[in-house]
Amino acid sequence: MSRSARIVSGAEGVVECAALLQAGGIAGVPTETVYGLAADAFQPLAVASIFEAKGRPLTDPLIVHLPDAGWIERVAIFESDIEGDLVNRLANAFWPGPLTLLLKKHPDIPELVTAGSDRIAVRVAAHPLFQEVLRKVGSPLAAPSANRFGRISPVTALDVQSELGEVILLILDGGASQHGLESTILSLTPQGMEILRPGPITEDQLKEFGHIIQGESIVKTPGSLPGHYAPRKHLSILKSDIMELSNAGSHGLLAFRQPAGDIAARFGVVKVLSSSGDLKEAAANFYSHLRAIDESGVEGIYSEALPEQGIGVAIMDRLRRAEYGSRHGSGHCS
Ligand code: TXA
Ligand code: MG
Repeated sequence: MSRSARIVSGAEGVVECAALLQAGGIAGVPTETVYGLAADAFQPLAVASIFEAKGRPLTDPLIVHLPDAGWIERVAIFESDIEGDLVNRLANAFWPGPLTLLLKKHPDIPELVTAGSDRIAVRVAAHPLFQEVLRKVGSPLAAPSANRFGRISPVTALDVQSELGEVILLILDGGASQHGLESTILSLTPQGMEILRPGPITEDQLKEFGHIIQGESIVKTPGSLPGHYAPRKHLSILKSDIMELSNAGSHGLLAFRQPAGDIAARFGVVKVLSSSGDLKEAAANFYSHLRAIDESGVEGIYSEALPEQGIGVAIMDRLRRAEYGSRHGSGHCS
C-alpha cells in the first residue's frame, strides 16, 4: 500500500510543520508562487532529503527563503556598496513577493544548498502561513517547487500530494497559490542585472532599477533547461488553424480565452485559462489546468500560444519547456 502525506492547515498545521522542519524533516509548504518542499537551509541532512524526495540531481541548487529581508547578510555577501544599495531597493520594492535574487553566497550556507556554486538564490515569500512557519523555525528554509524533478509545479496541497505524497510526511495547506508561476530569478552582477527565469515580476518593473543585460551570463539555471515543467502526455503549442486538426477529439485543449463557436466541442476536454483574457488569471490557472488535462483520459494536449506581454512572457517560457519536456523527457539538457 502506498503511503500518503498528511495535509494540515491553520495555526495547528503551522506549529506541526515548523516542529518537523526544526527536527530536520521536510514538508510541503504553500507560497504565493507555487508550493515548495522545505527544509532548514542550515541542516545539510534535511536539505539532502529534498533532493532525494524530488529525484533532483545534486547539481541543481535550491532557493533559500528568508524569514525577512534582515536575514540577507547572513546568507549572502554584497560584492560592493552599489550592489548592497541595489539589493535594498529591490527588496523594498518587491519583498515579500515573487522575486528571487542571485547573489554571492555566504560561507555559512552549506554547499549542498547551492550545489557547490558560490552564488545563492534568495527571496522573502509573501504567503502568510509560510511566513509564520519561517518565523517559528527561526532559520532560512531551502525550498524548490514541490514536484518530482522536471514535472508540472504544484499550486495546491492536493497537487503536492499527487507529486510527492508517497515520499513526504506532511503538507501544509494554504489554499491555491496566488500567482501560480514561480518567482522571477534576477542575477546581480557588476555588468548589470539579468533575468534568468521570467516570472510574476516583469522586465518592465525591473528595468527601473538598472540596466538589464540579455543572455550574457555564464550562470546556468537548471530551471532553464529546455525540458522542464513537463506533462506526461505530449503537448503541442498550436501553430496552425485549430479547425485543421484531425485528432482534436482525442486531445485536450488548453485555451487562453473561451474558444469561439463550436471549437470547444471538437476536443476531448477543454480548459480555459482566462475567459476575460487576463494574463494574471491565466498564470494562476496555468499549472492546475495543465495538470487537469494531463490527468484526464485524452491522448495528448494542444495549447494555444498566449500574448508575450507582462506575465505572458513567463507563461510562454513554461509552455515551451513543457512542450519540449513532454517530447524529449523532463530535465533534458541539450
Ligand atoms: O517561486 C519560486 O521560486 C518557488 C517557490 C517554492 O519559492 N521555488 C522554485 O524553486 O521555483 P525551484 O527549485 O523549482 O526553481 C529554482 C530555480 C532552479 O532552476 C535552480 O536551478 C535555480 O533556481 N537556482 C537556485 N539556486 C541557484 C543558484 N545558486 N545558482 C543558479 N541557479 C539557481
Ligand atoms: Mg521547479
